[in-house]
Amino acid sequence: MSPHPCILAPSILAANHTRLAEGFQIIAEAGLPWVHLDIMDGHFVPNLSFGPQVVADLRPLGKQYFDVHLMLDNPHLYVEAFAKAGAQSITIHTEPDYPIEQTLEHIRALGCEPAICINPHTPAEDLLPYLHHVHMVLLMSVQPGFGGQSFQSNVLDKISQVDLWRKEMSLDLRIEVDGGINIETARLCRERGADTFVAGTAFFKAADKKQFVRDICGQ
Ligand code: DX5
Ligand code: ZN
Repeated sequence: MSPHPCILAPSILAANHTRLAEGFQIIAEAGLPWVHLDIMDGHFVPNLSFGPQVVADLRPLGKQYFDVHLMLDNPHLYVEAFAKAGAQSITIHTEPDYPIEQTLEHIRALGCEPAICINPHTPAEDLLPYLHHVHMVLLMSVQPGFGGQSFQSNVLDKISQVDLWRKEMSLDLRIEVDGGINIETARLCRERGADTFVAGTAFFKAADKKQFVRDICGQ
């Protein structure tokens, strides 16, 4: 189990994009401390979502921690814009070709917490050069681009591996899992050391959102 308290970060991508403020309100009314914001460029992932202006417009609506997930080919070109828009954590992927370590340090210099992410087919070993530079590892349990996909269970061994590295290297690190998270898949991930969960579809579909959060965190 993780040393970190369990957190659910609803993905606002699953809300109605003409009424994102309402989606934000639903998250706030459930008393949740984090919001996950999926930023997509239509190139690194085959979908487009929203940009810094939307994040900036959501910022004044509450004090929630903005967990911004950059699914971009050139995230280094955008970290400043998202930091200025009000991000508190900025997650970048290992797969595209850009100066990853420098970008993580730039995120930190901007006053945000840096995080690193790998896709389902990327080996956990690709995270190793960055573990000392981040506050969180995001492990994708779907191929990024869309909400509502099915959980890919090959993420489970990666959670165990990152949890082992966290212990061996005494890293103060959150392990976040993103994609197809529901009560059952969250349990499987929690048992292996995950402590931070992104849920879009399942959260917004849940009739009792406060009970859903308790179930996701096994409370
Ligand atoms: C997928 C995004 C996820 C997604 C999660 O590209 O990174 O955050 O919105 O949505 P669900 O929970 O519906 O899989
Ligand atoms: Zn995401």
